[in-house]
Amino acid sequence: MKWTSVLSILAIIIGNTNVAMGQGSGPYPASWFEEPSLANHTIYMPESPPDNMSLPVLVWGNGACENNGIRFMNLLTNIASYGFIVLASGPPEGTGSTNVQMLRDSVSWALESAGSEGKYLTVDASKIAVAGQSCGGLEAYHLRDDDRVSFLGIFNSGFLPQDPGGGLGVSVPWEDPTTIEEVHKPVFYFLGGPSDIAYTNGRDDYEGLTGVPKWMGNYPVGHFGTYSEPDGGAFGVAAVHWLLWTLSKRMDGAEFFTDGGAEAAGWETESHGLESLLQ
Ligand SMILES: *[C@@H]1O[C@H](CO)[C@@H](O)[C@H](O)[C@H]1NC(C)=O
Ligand SMILES: *[C@@H]1O[C@H](CO)[C@@H](O)[C@H](O)[C@H]1NC(C)=O
Repeated sequence: MKWTSVLSILAIIIGNTNVAMGQGSGPYPASWFEEPSLANHTIYMPESPPDNMSLPVLVWGNGACENNGIRFMNLLTNIASYGFIVLASGPPEGTGSTNVQMLRDSVSWALESAGSEGKYLTVDASKIAVAGQSCGGLEAYHLRDDDRVSFLGIFNSGFLPQDPGGGLGVSVPWEDPTTIEEVHKPVFYFLGGPSDIAYTNGRDDYEGLTGVPKWMGNYPVGHFGTYSEPDGGAFGVAAVHWLLWTLSKRMDGAEFFTDGGAEAAGWETESHGLESLLQ
């Protein structure tokens, strides 16, 4: 057994907490930290970003709306290492639940901090995507009308037909599935195949979304994706390409979605209207 597999299993045994696996697979080794001006969040950033490169922004909501900003550490560190700043809801090892306002706070903070002297000089708040896993995806949908946000990413999630009303043990920011008709931003769906509890919901949302570019990929590992693997595994690779394309306008990111990259990596995909993102 490869040592990485052993670590993944260990991660599951210790409560599926991510095991710190380093600084990401990208060109800019990254790490996380707390920032007093953005309380109750965790920031992921390259440790020494080049001065001549701007950092687009990913705003992230955790699965289970868990108020723990390092719950998706492997995924988010990896994303940052490709030249992004990631603002995750929840302080490191925080307890309790996040809420939608925390995503809005991250977006506001990005706009206020971008270009300020020092560490955040190169943050580019004209390029913001909002995403989340499971409950965090439902939070992300709430920012559909926020003009400061350009793209949505829905990971193992989709609108729920009924409000679980705390029945899942978490406070879900429930909205009716017909809400998809109010979404007018491009959405990329990263789902876990038929064994993912959100498979049908995510699919229904993908189908109900009209008038904007959309992509849906299924990687058949179920609801918990590959987030506990080093660098977030296959979901980490896909997420990086999504942001390199949509926020950094890089063709190597685009090709993952338009030129067979995702399929070669094991994703079953559907898409519509992606051409308009290439312009
Ligand atoms: C951070 O979380 C604590 C505990 O929930 C809360 O009392 C406080 O108001 C929050 N701070 C901000 C700036 O939102
Ligand atoms: C930034 O500077 C480095 C080193 O001089 C150079 O290799 C790189 O191409 C530059 N990047 C951009 C985006 O200008």
